Amino acid sequence: MDMLIKLYESAGNWATGDDRSHPEIVLRKPRGSEHTLLERWVEDCIAPIWLSEVRAALTNRPVTLFIALRDTDILGFACYDATARGFIGPIGVVESARNQGIGSALLLACLQDMRSAGYGYAIAGHVGAPDFFRRVAGAIEIPDSTPGFYAGMLR
Ligand SMILES: CC(C)(COP(=O)(O)OP(=O)(O)OC[C@H]1O[C@@H](n2cnc3c(N)ncnc32)[C@H](O)[C@@H]1OP(=O)(O)O)[C@@H](O)C(=O)NCCC(=O)NCCS
Repeated sequence: MDMLIKLYESAGNWATGDDRSHPEIVLRKPRGSEHTLLERWVEDCIAPIWLSEVRAALTNRPVTLFIALRDTDILGFACYDATARGFIGPIGVVESARNQGIGSALLLACLQDMRSAGYGYAIAGHVGAPDFFRRVAGAIEIPDSTPGFYAGMLR
C-alpha cells in the first residue's frame, strides 16, 4: 500500500515529537566521506534490501538522505527521491533507539526538505508502518496502490 502526504498544509499540523526530543541527537545529511560507512551500517544494522535506495539517495545532488546521530553512533536514517522521484523512504531507526521521536524527526526533516525543493506531495511507498506515517505526517492511503508502482519489481 502506498500513502500520500500533503506538504503544503503541513507546517502547523505535523506532530514534531518535541516532547521526547533529545538535544544530544543531531540530524544532518551525511558527508561524502561517510557514504561507505553509512552503506555498511544500513546493510548490517537496518536492512540490506534498502541499500539500493540508500545509494540512490546518496547519489542525488543535493543528497536526499538524513541521518540521526548520537555522538558518532548512527541511530537512524530516512531518505527521499530514492525509490522514485517524489517518494519518501525508506526510513529506519535501530531497535534500541525506537519510540524516542527519532523516526518522526527524520521523517519531518525529509518532508521539509521536499517542500523546500518544490514538491506539493510526498508518496510513502509500500508502507510497512502505516500508523507511523498517519500519526506523524497525516498520510492517507492511496486507493488500489498494491502492488501499484512496485508491480513486477526485481527481487
Ligand atoms: C517506523 C520507525 C522508523 C519509527 O521510528 P521511531 O523512532 O520508533 O518513531 P517515533 O518514536 O518517532 O514514533 C512516532 C509515533 O509513531 C508511532 N510508531 C512508531 N513506530 C510505529 C510502527 N512501527 N507502527 C505504528 N506506529 C508507530 C509511535 O508510537 C509514535 O506515536 P505517538 O507519538 O502517538 O507516541 C521504526 O519503528 C523502524 O525503524 N521500524 C523498522 C523499519 C520500518 O518499518 N520502516 C518503515 C517502513 S514503511
